[in-house]
Formats: sequence, structure tokens, C-alpha cells
Amino acid sequence: MKLAIMGAGAVGSSVAELAAEYDHEVVALADSNSAAVDAAGLTVESALERKQADGIVGDDDPQDALDSEYDVLVEATPTTLDDAQPGFGHVRTALERDRHVVLANKGPVAERYADVRALESESGGSVLFEATVGGAMPVLSTIDGFGADNITAARGVLNGTANFILSRMAAEGLDYEHVLAEAQDLGVAEADPTFDVEGIDAALKCVILANVLAQGEREFTLDDADIEGISDLPGSALDLAHEDGQTIRLIGEVTDDGVRVGPRLVAEHSAVAPTGTRNIVQFETKHAGRLNVSGRGAGGPETATAVLADVDRLPPL
Ligand code: HSE
Repeated sequence: MKLAIMGAGAVGSSVAELAAEYDHEVVALADSNSAAVDAAGLTVESALERKQADGIVGDDDPQDALDSEYDVLVEATPTTLDDAQPGFGHVRTALERDRHVVLANKGPVAERYADVRALESESGGSVLFEATVGGAMPVLSTIDGFGADNITAARGVLNGTANFILSRMAAEGLDYEHVLAEAQDLGVAEADPTFDVEGIDAALKCVILANVLAQGEREFTLDDADIEGISDLPGSALDLAHEDGQTIRLIGEVTDDGVRVGPRLVAEHSAVAPTGTRNIVQFETKHAGRLNVSGRGAGGPETATAVLADVDRLPPL
């Protein structure tokens, strides 16, 4: 497939770097103010070197990337709330041109799920978005394989940055600001890390899960989520929890009662207390008990593998 990649941050760059290994070709790569477009296939390395050296990926304009001849638009610009722009506009443009869309950007499917589905229904292209929930973990494909009708609830750790901060604070007694800077250095934190520590990123993922599980019967947005972050959590709360064999994790829940995210006491060493940037989603199923999906929920190459797995799932145009 020919890929046009909008967004040249950690995820967009990794998709560009790994595309050839998955037998796909990058014909355009854009960041917010520049683009490199080549119908014959880009030399990805040169575009990324240019970004490092000069702050631009090439001499073209982002609009040239949107206008280029691609099969799949990979939308990896930063997640934005409310109207989800500019990501939503990129999705619209691609679908109106009957091209496929693969999203790493959560905004369009968290804030405008019904609009995206309506555009898709009028298009010859499809929209896939595995990378928006849990990085490398096959969360949405597990729902697809298991059947949304057979899943009654989902719960888990869906933000690597917050989990890294909580597990480092508990293990090392480090303070919050110090650990956040470490998470940013790892490249897992959002462009705006308040999304991570205030629970917004985890809530967006839960909203996407809720939309997928609802199968169009109801639309969820961030406004439907009850959200509490970890930025006010004192280190002493972790110490107290530890005395009882417990710890604290930022847990997201999708149940019949709606979407909730907040710090919760969980048993130390339990499945829902992963360490570092690891994530876990637990599905409650109708007839088969609990199903766990865990792994790396953040990071450039990790999230890029989910994007490229989606590209491999798309039918030929
Ligand atoms: N910043 C997110 C996290 C990764 O820390 O989990 C992408 O959603």
C-alpha cells in the first residue's frame, strides 16, 4: 500500500521507518508546517534527518501530502479535543477521496465517532484505529475477534506515562515532577503531558472502547467521562497503600454505568498493577470470564506496529 503519513512525531516517524519492513511504501510524510512528497516513494531516512537538522521534513506543504496519491492516510498528528481538528479534517479529506484511513490520533474517534462513521459509510475507504487504544496491544482487534456483544465491561491501565510515574514514585520514593520528566525523556508522554497525568488520555481511550463496544447504539465523547487524574496524589498515599499490600494505579473503566477514570487502590503485584509504561485491559465477557490483554501501551515503534497491523487488515481499494 502507498502511505501518506500526517504527523512526524514519535509515532508518525516510526511508521515511516517501519513501513518498508511491512512491504508498504511511504509517498508522503508531513509535520505541522512542512512535507516531503514523492510519488515514487520517499527516502524516509533523508526526510527524518532533515527534520532533526532543519526542523522540516521537506520542501513541500502539508496540503501537498493530503493531495498526494496514497492508498492509506495514516493520521498521527497530536490528539486534540472537541472538534478534533486538524486530524478530523484529514480523515474527511481522505474518505471523500475514497481512500483508507488508519488513525493513531485519538481525537476523531473519541470526540467525533459518529461523524467519522458517517463519512466512512459514504466512502470507498475504511477507517481503522487499533493504535488509538493501548499502543502495541491488540485491544480493538480482540473485541472484533471476540464479538462486542459478548463483552460486558472493560477495565484497566491505559496510560503508560501515569503508570510509569506511579510505579516509580512507589518503588523509588521519587517526587512527581522528577518522574514526569523521566517519562517525557522516554518519549511516551503526550505532547501535552497534562493529558497523561490528568487522566484525559486514559479517558479518551476508554471513550473509544465505549464507542466500539456500543456498536453505534450510543455515541460517547469525553464529556461523558468521569475523570480524575494523579497530579494531586501525594507520595504518602502510595506509602499508606503499601502498608496494606496495595498500591495505586490510574484505572479506566467502561461499564453499563458509563466511562470512569481515576486513581484506585489495587493489590500490589496484581494484573492491574503493571510496572513502568506497561498497560493492561481486562474484558469481562458474558460466557468466558475475564480476558486480559497486556503489553506496551505507548511508544513510537510500539504504536507504529498497531498502525501497520491495521494497514495490513485493509482491503485493496
Ligand atoms: N501518552 C500515552 C501514554 C501514549 O503515556 O500512554 C499514547 O496514548
